[in-house]
Amino acid sequence: MKVALTYNLKKKDPTKPADYFSECDSEETVNSILSALRNKGHSVEAVDVEYPTLFSYFKKNRVDMVFNIAEGKHGRFRESEVPAVLDYLNIPYTGSDTFSLALALNKALTKKILKAENIPTPNFQLFIKGDEELSSELNFPLIVKPNCEGSAKGINKANVVTNKDDLLAKVKECIGIYKQEVLVEEFIEGKELTVGILENGKTSILPILEIDFSSCKNSGEYFYSWRMKEYQGNMDMGLVPTFHCPARLDKETEEKVKDAALRTHRAVGCLDISRTDIRLDKFNVPYVLEINPLPGLDPKESNFPIMAYAAGMGYDDLIEAILINASERKRLN
Ligand SMILES: Nc1ncnc2c1ncn2[C@@H]1O[C@H](COP(=O)(O)OP(=O)(O)OP(=O)(O)O)[C@@H](O)[C@H]1O
Ligand SMILES: [Mg+2]
Repeated sequence: MKVALTYNLKKKDPTKPADYFSECDSEETVNSILSALRNKGHSVEAVDVEYPTLFSYFKKNRVDMVFNIAEGKHGRFRESEVPAVLDYLNIPYTGSDTFSLALALNKALTKKILKAENIPTPNFQLFIKGDEELSSELNFPLIVKPNCEGSAKGINKANVVTNKDDLLAKVKECIGIYKQEVLVEEFIEGKELTVGILENGKTSILPILEIDFSSCKNSGEYFYSWRMKEYQGNMDMGLVPTFHCPARLDKETEEKVKDAALRTHRAVGCLDISRTDIRLDKFNVPYVLEINPLPGLDPKESNFPIMAYAAGMGYDDLIEAILINASERKRLN
C-alpha cells in the first residue's frame, strides 16, 4: 500500500512553556512507525503536519491510506484537524474519525455520555469562569484538570485539593494558563489502570496494564501527573513506576474493567485503537477517567505497545493491524 504517516513532531523551543509540545510525537516514535510499515512491505512517506501545506500535499500526492497520529495544533478540535482535511479530500485514514476525536478531547462531554450509558466515571463539575459555587454533591479530595488537554498537561500533584480555598485558587490558575474551562472531579484513590482496545478484524481487549507508583514515593509523585509522564524512566528523579501487565486483579474485577473500557470505546465511537484510563476505588468499581483515541505509540515508553507485547504481539504487527483494520473499513464503505 502507498501510505502517508501524518504527525506533529515534538520540537525544542525554549520560548514555549515546558508542556507545550507534550502531546506531540518524538522522532523515535515516527521512525519506529515508518520502519514498521516499511518492514511490512508498504511504501511510506512521512508528513510532519504544517498548515496549509497539508492540503496541497494531499492534492498532489494520492495515497491509499493515511496512518494518522497527528495531535493537531489549534484549540479544542485540534485532533480532528488532519482527519477533517482527509475527509474533505475523501482519503481514508487509520483510527477514529473527526467527530470521535473531538468528543474524546472534551473530557466533560465524554463523561456526560458515560453517565448516560451507566459507565462509572468520577462525579464532576465544569468551571467556566472560575467563580461558580462548588456543587454540594462533590466530595474532597478533588482534582482540577484543564477540560481539553492530554498528556497530563496542567495536571500536577498540587491539582489535588482538599478544601474550597485551594480548589478555587487552582481553578482560577488553570483557567488562566490553559484559557479553557476546567474540570473538577472526585479524586479516586485506588489502582491506576489503562485498557487497550485493538480492532484487528475482531475487537480485542488487550491485557490490562496496571501502573504502580509506589516505587516513586521519594519523588513526591503518586499518580500519572505531567511530571511523571514527561520524565518517566528517569532514575535520578525517582520517576520509575512499576508496570504490571496483566494487572493484578481478581477475575471479576478484570471483567468489570474490560467491560467499562469496551463500552467507553463504543459509546465514543472509536475506531481501530483506543486506550481508556481507569481508576479502581476501594470497592473495586472501575471509574473511567477518559479515553484516548490517539494513544502514544512509542515502542519502548508508551502504554499501548506494552499491552500489545503482553498479548504476544510485536510492534510491527501492532502497526500493521491498525492499518489493515482501517483499510478493510475503507473497502466495506
Ligand atoms: N479523578 C481522578 N482520580 C484519580 N486520579 C486521577 C483523576 N483524574 C486524573 N487522575 C490522574 O491524573 C492522570 C492524568 O489524568 P487524565 O488521564 O484525565 O489526563 P490526560 O492528560 O488526558 O492523560 P493522557 O496522558 O492519558 O492523555 C491519570 O492517569 C491519573 O493518574
Ligand atoms: Mg489519561
